[in-house]
Amino acid sequence: MIIASWMPFLPDEASSVSAEVDALYTYLVIITIFFSTLIFVSIVYFAIKYRRRSKNEIPAKINESKALEITWTVIPFLLAMTMFVWGSSLYFKEYYIPKNAEDIYVVAKQWMWKFQHPEGQREINELHIPVGRKIKLIMASEDVIHSFFVPAFRLKEDVVPGPKRYSMLSFEATRPGRYHLFCAEYCGTNHAGMIGWVNVMRPEEYESWLSGGAAEGSMAASGEKMFQDLGCVTCHRADAQGRGPVLQGLFGKTQTLANGETVIADENYIRESILDPQAKVVSNFQPIMPNFKGQISEEQLLQLVAYIKSLGGPGATASTLSNPGGEMSSPQMNQSSGAPNTSAPQSNAVKSTPSTERSAPNESRPK
Ligand code: CUA
Repeated sequence: MIIASWMPFLPDEASSVSAEVDALYTYLVIITIFFSTLIFVSIVYFAIKYRRRSKNEIPAKINESKALEITWTVIPFLLAMTMFVWGSSLYFKEYYIPKNAEDIYVVAKQWMWKFQHPEGQREINELHIPVGRKIKLIMASEDVIHSFFVPAFRLKEDVVPGPKRYSMLSFEATRPGRYHLFCAEYCGTNHAGMIGWVNVMRPEEYESWLSGGAAEGSMAASGEKMFQDLGCVTCHRADAQGRGPVLQGLFGKTQTLANGETVIADENYIRESILDPQAKVVSNFQPIMPNFKGQISEEQLLQLVAYIKSLGGPGATASTLSNPGGEMSSPQMNQSSGAPNTSAPQSNAVKSTPSTERSAPNESRPK
């Protein structure tokens, strides 16, 4: 706030890290100005003071000065270390993903930003978020490298295509307003047009915006439907009788793999296991899952991730659970009628969340 007010060319400070980024930049600028001035003034001063006064003047021989050499090595070293320590600690603070953040799913493509909230709302080139709450963006690219950049938040993260991982970014907006969103990685003809707005709203405004209606139900519900349609439910059964691992309560759990390694079942693991199932096979299971690369879009993939998250687990938070009551592992859940699924007569064993829970995520949010 303070720094941006006397540096008019800086964008608004609208996130919890903006002020600190500006402070660090100011520090760098001040040091740069100080040393540039010192060096240029010294050059001019010495050039005049030690100029050659007569044609046959021969300067005195100068031996090195240990004290001087040590001084001008140690001081810049210490200064550089302050930049390093400050800069890296701020970097870690900016790119740390807190556990209790609220998810928003992002798909970048030539040339637009598509957002989907867990509650189901979709947006293009507009993102609505509440002020004062931690947000986590789970981002995928459908084609080339893009970069999510909000100058007012002082945050930028590349969105990279490929089966291995999602790009994640977390932030907390501190001031309601409308802030420019850019793509900061040249991604083709209309790269410059790949822009949008982040609308930071007061919590009550956000809640009413959010309840404004999602045409198709929550992301977890869409994901669940796909889980049925793709036949995933045939093998990933809740009763542990299936040929694939049980997904209920999985999210955030440590999985032991066939090769003895362990992996935490996070968004990236789920993504990779769908696109490239043989990459990390859970111990005591056969590598028989077909791979779904090219068969589902990034958006569908995110819905599946949201669905698996909604099944609970140590890494699931209230905002990701579609049924915060958490009855996923109870046997009664098997009763709801299954979606049409010709390949799996017993598929209703996995059906965990009746459609009535779709209003739950709103209720679980702190007001
Ligand atoms: Cu997308 Cu540049």
